[in-house]
Amino acid sequence: MCGIIGYTGPLEAPKILLEGLSALEYRGYDSAGIALCMEDSKICLAKKTGKVKNLEEYCKKMISGSAHSGIGHTRWATHGGVTDVNAHPHRAGKVVLIHNGIIENYHALTDRFHLQDRLISQTDSEVAAQTLNELYTGDPLEAIRSLIGLLEGSYSFCIMFEDQPGVIYAIRNISPLVAASTPSGSMLASDLTALIPYTRQYFVVPEQHIVKLTPYKVHVYNLDDTFSKDYPEIMTVNWNMDAAMKNGFPHFMLKEIHEQPEAMRNTILPRVSKGLPCFSDDGIPDHIFENCDQVQIIACGTAMYAGMVARAIMQPVLRIPITVSIASEFRYEEPLIDEKSLVIIISQSGETIDTLAALRLAQKCGSTTLAVVNVKGSTIARESDYVLYTHAGPEIAVASTKAYSVQLAALYMVSCRMALVRKKYTKEQAANFLGELLDVIPAMENVIAQKEHIRDVASHIIQSPDVFFIGRGLDYAFSLEGALKLKEISYIHSEAYAAGELKHGTIALISDQVPVIAIATQQHVYSKTISNIREVKARGAYIILLVKENAVVDENLADLQIRIPDVADHFTVFPIAAALQLIAYYTSLGKHLDVDQPRNLAKSVTVE
Ligand code: G6P
Repeated sequence: MCGIIGYTGPLEAPKILLEGLSALEYRGYDSAGIALCMEDSKICLAKKTGKVKNLEEYCKKMISGSAHSGIGHTRWATHGGVTDVNAHPHRAGKVVLIHNGIIENYHALTDRFHLQDRLISQTDSEVAAQTLNELYTGDPLEAIRSLIGLLEGSYSFCIMFEDQPGVIYAIRNISPLVAASTPSGSMLASDLTALIPYTRQYFVVPEQHIVKLTPYKVHVYNLDDTFSKDYPEIMTVNWNMDAAMKNGFPHFMLKEIHEQPEAMRNTILPRVSKGLPCFSDDGIPDHIFENCDQVQIIACGTAMYAGMVARAIMQPVLRIPITVSIASEFRYEEPLIDEKSLVIIISQSGETIDTLAALRLAQKCGSTTLAVVNVKGSTIARESDYVLYTHAGPEIAVASTKAYSVQLAALYMVSCRMALVRKKYTKEQAANFLGELLDVIPAMENVIAQKEHIRDVASHIIQSPDVFFIGRGLDYAFSLEGALKLKEISYIHSEAYAAGELKHGTIALISDQVPVIAIATQQHVYSKTISNIREVKARGAYIILLVKENAVVDENLADLQIRIPDVADHFTVFPIAAALQLIAYYTSLGKHLDVDQPRNLAKSVTVE
């Protein structure tokens, strides 16, 4: 949530900051702002509600002269409405600051430093700026350390002091921050995507550390008054600039849907050894799969729905309890996990704050933690006992697509490896399972190739205020993600229901022409699902049926059909996911909405 960028060096700062903010915009896009250290050493601010484009236009009019250092911010509002005044940066005396996170004790700080009459915005961030200004007596490090001693909450800050031209300070507590020293200057950002035009080498700012950027060096300090003993490990980006560009696609989401087959190959193939799933290159030992007596899966949003599919795959084979929890709930429960539990944490970004808190709780309970994460070096990846990286490359569209598929691919492999080491599968069964997993890749390609047909299907729901998704068993687990995808980007109220549960209430909402997207790919419940479809059809529903290619369907049952290739029942989630993603995409497109940056959402949720 919120994108942060800072730059100091020989190049023109406004261009770097504005381009960086465009790359970070998916983290929040309520407003944007920059602060520049101008040639006379004065700091000039420009901030505007709306997208970075608005800020760019505003800067063209407002900023003249050259600047070689500055900071920039895209906001996802938490405290205070979406206004120019509440946009970052915030100025207080000599201090200019941008913030990602939440300062929980901002009321107490306001009272303690008598700030009431000085605050011009409604933000917790301005309270931090004013407090820092109160503490500043000419030594930035000392003032920042004192500030940190007073703050409660999660934050990363990027700070300029008007009497320290060309120098930028940043501090990180929970909220993510990466930094790089490059031949074109020193820079930092809340996400790598803003840095890759300038460097492939970066480091993750350690928590509770301060970084100081001068034009050609990045210094790292701990919170005592010394340099950090160990300079953080320098990491290398393993994807190129193209991966973060649209490359001819009209939207990132459509591009990322198309990238799924490749992402699946990248995630699965390096982990196949002698035809079996193998995690030795990931450093994941078999004993973590052998010794547990339960599996607890924890995640948020789409990642949580991937966990629900994984549970349905794992439990019948492993015959041990597998529980899926929403991270924001799990952390406030008293979970029944202990040293014998394997806790699987799923997160595309590796930074979702509730998921991170759940990971820390699981570790406190003594459980072994395995993270399925896409972003290399992210906090969850670094703090878990073991990491299984998915190799989707950067996912830029706010609605998650390829990250979901590869999370599933990784989880299917974990399930298979666990079944093998726990002797629930023979080698032959495990090899067959893996073969079936690989078969889904051409099946996904097949569905993506049906996009024009799916566009037509979507045109039938564009006008509807509500859409229902139904399915049984695994098909129900897929429906949950389908409904989430549709509501996220089309703003149509969409809900998923277990098909057998409909008649216990929800069927009251079915009337003439209400679209019902019915998924029926699971043979053992197929006829039951078909009966449930008939029940809604009899009440006038408009049926969009997703079934396998070879299914024999009564011609009066469905108004429209999408046929997926005939993969084994346990694997239909992959082609079905592609179909549901495309339905959501074309519905949003048909409604002329902002597909990649839907209202109120953000890609990386780093506030509770
Ligand atoms: C946000 C995103 C979702 C994502 C969820 C969890 O809500 O908009 O697409 O599924 O966070 O994110 P994570 O990075 O932990 O997978």
